[in-house]
Amino acid sequence: MRTRPLKVALLGCGVVGSEVARIMTTHADDLAARIGAPVELAGVAVRRPDKVREGIDPALITTDATALVKRGDIDVVVEVIGGIEPARTLITTAFEHGASVVSANKALLAQDGAALHAAAERSGRDLYYEAAVAGAIPLIRPLRESLAGDKVNRVLGIVNGTTNFILDKMDSTGAGYQEALDEATALGYAEADPTADVEGFDAAAKAAILAGIAFHTRVRLDDVHREGMTEVTASDFASAKQMGCTIKLLAICERAADGASVTARVHPAMIPLSHPLASVRGAYNAVFVESEAAGRLMFYGPGAGGSPTASAVLGDLVAVCRNRLDGATGPGESAYAALPVSPMGDVVTRYHISLDVADKPGVLAQVATVFAEHGVSIDTVRQQGKDQSSSRSGEAGTEGEASLVVVTHRATDAALGGTVEALRKLDTVRGVASIMRVEGE
Ligand code: HSE
Repeated sequence: MRTRPLKVALLGCGVVGSEVARIMTTHADDLAARIGAPVELAGVAVRRPDKVREGIDPALITTDATALVKRGDIDVVVEVIGGIEPARTLITTAFEHGASVVSANKALLAQDGAALHAAAERSGRDLYYEAAVAGAIPLIRPLRESLAGDKVNRVLGIVNGTTNFILDKMDSTGAGYQEALDEATALGYAEADPTADVEGFDAAAKAAILAGIAFHTRVRLDDVHREGMTEVTASDFASAKQMGCTIKLLAICERAADGASVTARVHPAMIPLSHPLASVRGAYNAVFVESEAAGRLMFYGPGAGGSPTASAVLGDLVAVCRNRLDGATGPGESAYAALPVSPMGDVVTRYHISLDVADKPGVLAQVATVFAEHGVSIDTVRQQGKDQSSSRSGEAGTEGEASLVVVTHRATDAALGGTVEALRKLDTVRGVASIMRVEGE
């Protein structure tokens, strides 16, 4: 074993960074044996130097992250500060000064992954980021390496624990969105400002990264269609139950049927209770990968938290250190397929539409005609009278209101959008109560 240690600079010492530092210290001998050389924490860049950080030599703490990455003797920079800047500049500077980089920064990789990979390649160094998607769950390496000989057609995942906790609560208790969010906040799952999670930004960044790797194509955050889950209601869950489904916020990356393009999207969707993703409870994450030769694979585990995320960071650290000792680099960006990313309108799926309609003769025929005119084939229709105790709904000469639930066969999102627009114009359609895609069948 080499006795001269490999030097590691840690950028950020919050929930994840402090766990990385702790495990580097407590498992130093095992890490050295696995790598073939000791690894030494050479500096820790923080914003608040006065904070007590147990187990970290105060002499290593600095507020000057730029000076740390420019030192020239750093072998690996571990970036766990998140956000776009200063992380982007620090990573680029680290490459320019000869370091490899391990990052957990999904937002930056989803926005600027190609430029960062190019910087790594120019400097002959590694850029690894297993921790950027779904915490501890091995996903990037299986997609980049284990499935490198296969053809991935679909990646379908629950990649945000906060929203899965909220939706699971709504499903199991009948709670509304706000009540479930309040509980998630009280238990520390949701942040004070939950926007990034509940509006799907976090999941969209992860979808961009997964789609890029799965399809060997550059997919940026802007290419991902995103809808949050703040409008999912208790009544949507009741409808889902009637269909034998539950509702999950899904990240879905798909190759088109003709293989000529791909799509990436994040939105709430009904999923059959028989699908493995339906049983992912609480704040757990899971990703379902469908590939040509391997078939269906599922990756499951804790998608966030200090210790699980540190596990992924340390796995990368070991791999990058081994590469440095070998004078090699691991796989870089693979974007050779360069498939176009199609807009949401091209996505083909099934839909569950709930309409409030006038309950009188001919309404069902009118609604069905609108679907037919837009080429959307209806699978099932269910009608339920509303407020039936106070009206003789449906009888000649009276006009009650009914709830009409239409489930379609597969159609494009554009066709469904046109259908809904036309339905809204019908006098007899009082409102479109909800539209939910049905996935995983
Ligand atoms: N906030 C994320 C989640 C974890 O709830 O899953 C970090 O991506």
